[in-house]
Amino acid sequence: MKTVMILAHPNLEGSVANKRISEQLSQKFENLDIRNIFELYPDYKINVAAEQEVLLNADTIIFQYPFYWYNMPAILKLWFDEVFAYNFAYGSEGDKLKGKNFQLSITVGGPNESYTPLGYNHFTIEQFTKPLEQTAYLAQMNFLPPIYEHGMVYIPGVYNSKEIVEQRADKQVQKLTNVLSGLQNVTPEKRIKNFAIEWFQNFDILAEDNYFNKHITSSTKLHFPEGLFIGNEGFSEWYSEIKKTIKPNNEHRIESIHVSENNGHFDVDLAVKLKAETYQNESIQLNVKENWKIEITADDSIKIHEYLVKEV
Ligand SMILES: Cc1cc2nc3c(=O)[nH]c(=O)nc-3n(C[C@H](O)[C@H](O)[C@H](O)COP(=O)(O)O)c2cc1C
Repeated sequence: MKTVMILAHPNLEGSVANKRISEQLSQKFENLDIRNIFELYPDYKINVAAEQEVLLNADTIIFQYPFYWYNMPAILKLWFDEVFAYNFAYGSEGDKLKGKNFQLSITVGGPNESYTPLGYNHFTIEQFTKPLEQTAYLAQMNFLPPIYEHGMVYIPGVYNSKEIVEQRADKQVQKLTNVLSGLQNVTPEKRIKNFAIEWFQNFDILAEDNYFNKHITSSTKLHFPEGLFIGNEGFSEWYSEIKKTIKPNNEHRIESIHVSENNGHFDVDLAVKLKAETYQNESIQLNVKENWKIEITADDSIKIHEYLVKEV
C-alpha cells in the first residue's frame, strides 16, 4: 500500500508539531512519500500534473497541517482548488481518486474544552472539517475520521513547553501509525519494531512514567543492571532514579532487532547503543543487549511481560 503525505506548513523550520509528526512518521514508514508543498512551491505555483500523478499512484493520502483560522493554511486550499480538478476529482470522468483513503491529520492550537458548544471555539473539529469531508465524498474517496491533538501551540516562555507539544505530537503519530498499520495489515513483527522505536524515543526525552507503564503489567519482571524490579511500581521506582541521574535528550540507537513468535508471545532481542549525559556532566556510552517477552493483546495494545537489560 502506498501512502502519500501532503504536508502544508508555511514555516516548517519554526514548527514543533508538524515537523515532529512528519519526521517521526517517515521513520516508522520507510515508503511514506512526504510532499512538503510549501517547500516545493514557495511561489504558490503548484505543478498540478505532478501532484495529480502522485495521487494516482497512492492508496492513502494524509493531509498534515496546522489549524489556521478554523481551516487549513492557504497553500493547501490552493492545492485543493487546483489539484482536485474537473474530470480528475469530480465531473463525468472525474473518478481518478475513487476508493483512495482520505486522512486529515491536524495540529490544533486551542485546548480541547474550547472546541465544545460552551467553549470559546463553539464547534468541534469534526464540524469545522465538514467541507473536506464532503470534498472526499464528491471525489468518491474513503473519508477516515480526522486525527488531531489539541493544545499544540508552543510560544517559548508563554504557552506550553516544547516537550509537552512534542509529547502530544507523538500521540498524534501513534494514532496515525495505528490507522496506517491497520490499512497496511502490518505484521506483528513490524508492529513490534515500530513499538521498539517509539519506546526508545520516549526514553530519549525521559517521557512521563505513564507512557511506559501502560505497556507494563503489575507483574512484569524488569531485570535492569541495577537489579530486579516488578511491575508498574517497580518500573516507577527504577525510573525515578534514572531521571535523577541522566539528563533528557539522550540517544538510544537500535542497532539490531529480531522478533520471533513463541507460544502466542513474541521474543524480542535487541542491541542498543545508549549515549547520555549525567547531571554531573559525565558522558555515558553503553552497549546493551535486551530481551523482551511481549504480548499483543486482543485490543491490539502491546504489553511487556519480561524485560531484561544486560550491559555488554
Ligand atoms: C495564522 C494562524 C492561525 C491559527 N488559527 C488557529 C485556530 O483557528 N485555531 C487553533 O486552535 N489554533 C490556531 N492557530 C495555532 C496553530 O494551530 C498552532 O500554532 C499549530 O498547530 C502548531 O503547529 P506547528 O508547531 O507545526 O506550527 C493558528 C496559528 C496561526 C499562525
